[in-house]
Amino acid sequence: MATPLSNDRYSRVAIALHWAIALMILSLIVFGFLMTQEWMPQRFTIYQWHKSFGITVLILSLFRLIWRLGHKPPPLSADMKKWELSAAKVTHVGFYVLMIGVPLLGWAMVSASRLPIENKLFFLIPLPDMPGVPSSDAMTDRLKLLHEIGAKLILFLFVLHVGGALKHHFVAKDGTLARMIPALRRK
Ligand code: HEM
Ligand code: HEM
Repeated sequence: MATPLSNDRYSRVAIALHWAIALMILSLIVFGFLMTQEWMPQRFTIYQWHKSFGITVLILSLFRLIWRLGHKPPPLSADMKKWELSAAKVTHVGFYVLMIGVPLLGWAMVSASRLPIENKLFFLIPLPDMPGVPSSDAMTDRLKLLHEIGAKLILFLFVLHVGGALKHHFVAKDGTLARMIPALRRK
């Protein structure tokens, strides 16, 4: 029988940022793979939205990390085994690294590109090139590969993370999911 959790939950800011960033990252991955297909219509427009939301994820994730350093999360269920606690920690740290690293790689990639494309966030704000990134095809290809690997790693962590969240909710029934979706607790 799982020990019931107290009414602990993440703060409103942490919850809002978690879901906004999760939604944007999943859309970025889906549209990222679609926009690189030859048959996809409106590819140029989707590329611009991709860069705009990608940089938004970068800014929100930096803010989230700073927020997180100043706000301790609620304690995890006392029933979690040592390996489960370690797995959750590794997944969370991995997410933070990728939430910041993947958009940085994307920005570096478009900065290295020799294509004469003006990057404008939301078709309004010019995106400057990342300082110190040399402009070359070889560098662009390398960064493209790293950006793609990073996005695939996010997908991998996502599967572990959601699997864990659902296991807590439906098998352990320990209230872990309600820490991120407080509405579940009232039911
Ligand atoms: C968390 C943020 C991001 C995620 C999850 C993400 C994900 C992806 C994915 C899955 C692809 C397709 C992979 C491929 O086939 O190459 C892709 C491609 C691309 N991304 Fe991102 N991206 C993010 C942020 C950014 C940012 C900030 C920029 C630029 C400012 C960017 C620029 C690009 C470009 C130019 C491509 C096309 C690469 C090619 O032509 O193959 N991305 N992204
Ligand atoms: C790409 C999408 C997602 C990303 C990047 C992500 C990232 C994260 C991160 C970094 C944390 C740790 C928060 C912290 O302590 O600072 C977290 C916690 C959490 N996430 Fe996600 N998440 C995603 C999607 C989801 C989904 C779809 C669910 C639900 C099915 C979910 C459920 C949770 C729960 C319940 C917690 C709290 C776990 C705990 O108390 O340790 N997440 N998420």
